[in-house]
Amino acid sequence: MCGIVGYMGQSEAQEILLKALKRLEYRGYDSAGIALVKDSIRIFKNKGRIKDLEKPLDRAHETAGIGHTRWATHGAPSKLNSHPHTDCQGDIAVVHNGILENFHTLKMEIKEKGHNVISDTDSELVAHLFEDAYAGDLKKAMVKTVSKLRGSFALAVLHKDHPGEIVAYRYQSPLVVGVGQGENMVASDVPAILGHTNKVIYLDEGNGAVLRSDNVDLFDNEGRPIDIDPQEILWTLEDAEKGGYEHFMLKEIFEQPKALRESMLGKISSSGDVFVSPLLKEKYSKIKNIKIVACGTSFHAGLVGRYAITHLTGLPCQVEIGSEYRYLDPTSDEQVIIFISQSGETADTLAAAKEAVSRGLITIGVTNVLGSSITRVVDETIYTNAGPEIGVAASKSFITQLLIMYLISIQLGVSRGTLPPERARQLNQQLRKMPRNIEIVLNDTSLIQAVAKELSTASSIFFIGRNINYPTALEGALKLKEISYIHAEGYPAGELKHGPIALLDDKTPVIALAPKDFIYDKMASNIGEVLSRDAPVIGILSEDDTEMEKYVDHVLCIPRVDELLTPIPITVVEQLLSYYCALELGCSIDKPKNLAKSVTVE
Ligand code: M6R
Repeated sequence: MCGIVGYMGQSEAQEILLKALKRLEYRGYDSAGIALVKDSIRIFKNKGRIKDLEKPLDRAHETAGIGHTRWATHGAPSKLNSHPHTDCQGDIAVVHNGILENFHTLKMEIKEKGHNVISDTDSELVAHLFEDAYAGDLKKAMVKTVSKLRGSFALAVLHKDHPGEIVAYRYQSPLVVGVGQGENMVASDVPAILGHTNKVIYLDEGNGAVLRSDNVDLFDNEGRPIDIDPQEILWTLEDAEKGGYEHFMLKEIFEQPKALRESMLGKISSSGDVFVSPLLKEKYSKIKNIKIVACGTSFHAGLVGRYAITHLTGLPCQVEIGSEYRYLDPTSDEQVIIFISQSGETADTLAAAKEAVSRGLITIGVTNVLGSSITRVVDETIYTNAGPEIGVAASKSFITQLLIMYLISIQLGVSRGTLPPERARQLNQQLRKMPRNIEIVLNDTSLIQAVAKELSTASSIFFIGRNINYPTALEGALKLKEISYIHAEGYPAGELKHGPIALLDDKTPVIALAPKDFIYDKMASNIGEVLSRDAPVIGILSEDDTEMEKYVDHVLCIPRVDELLTPIPITVVEQLLSYYCALELGCSIDKPKNLAKSVTVE
């Protein structure tokens, strides 16, 4: 979950690396560093953000270098533990993203050979191994080095005797090569190289690359040459920048209408037919059960998906947390497993997907990132097409994941004959109108801001919902806690009375998700229970609800949409509430403490 980058070209590398690292900072941000090479290797690194690194850098004329932004796994954030790491002589510089599982054995072996290991990191060991493996050829040294590593690693290495080359390698951590004109780059993610080129090569597991300014040689795990065609990235640098918004998260919340429109393209025809998964189209008559596996916000999308799938298709559907899936004994009814992951790199989800493949199951990935690791594991990939999401808190990716869950349910329901065509048409029409409905919520956020200001003084907040808005309550609580650090819990509204109600008092606000739907009356009773404990209630209600507003303390409205689709506009209100709470509290919204966007460790 660190970000790595390498530049080889004609321009000053320092500036380019720092800019690139800023675009990778979402991957980790407790320390940063760069190494530049010309006649020798110069390293600048420190604890803290990239902006803290910039000051001590002297003017540099090197046109080649590597950089790193860190999310600590082995060793606390400190200058010593920051990357790049070097060998004993300082001839080699290494940046690493991932975790070496044979860290302890390697460290013992390396020390026995007389190397002086100075940091607490696993990554430094790569520099020492590389030093031993090097006999004049970077590619050969890399192949020999990685043969000793277990775990996950994306690496970029510089050697002082090869100022015109960077050697890079990936295994279970992402790495893309940017192919430019007279300059080439390598990075953990595409935003780092946009602006230089939009032609990228997605390295596969066990692939490496030697970058020179005018060419790139690709190789496999034994050093044999390989060929991978570059792909063209269709989004631009502006898409990956803030565009006048104070935070990426706010920009991404406001991009949701566009993200939904783009995500629908090619999936709903003008006549209203849904076609999102060729695989499900082919296999629908044999499917007896669907499982969904994901983590965090993507898990919540899966939970919403469960309600939609069971309701529209009649199929049983279970949703599992990525890190837990492998511990569940395989069941005989397991058939189709859908893995949801914005990044497509989440180690827990990826490991579960590999397990499912080894069990011979039909696997579908739902991801936002072209060429991400999950797409190489599953049988079929459905892209959410939300565009780059930089804020660590998931926003537009969640909304588009919800869309995909609805579309899968509609397609399967129609194929299986459980969803009458008229109802399918209605839902499709409503989905196509959804961007407009989100715009209505986004058009005036003043009330949400005022409520957020009040909420920001609370030390604990509950979100409650029923049925398909139970997962929406979980997502509201996750969003609030991750960016504002206010303790928050999402609960099924009916479950509150079985314990958590003991925590309610006049200082514990409850956000009640109560759109006009078939369980509205039951929600009203639960809200009554909360009000009787003096807890302030913020109702997220349908715009035409004139009844509930008499009882609750604040009303935040959503446009009237089909009850199955209410999680979409409700989530937008929740995102804004969390955002403005965090803003009020002066939190680091795009990069909350202890988090990273892409969690590539298990
Ligand atoms: O990339 P993924 O969707 O697989 O990531 C899963 C979670 O790490 C992610 O959703 C996380 O919970 C977000 N920070 C939530 O906003």
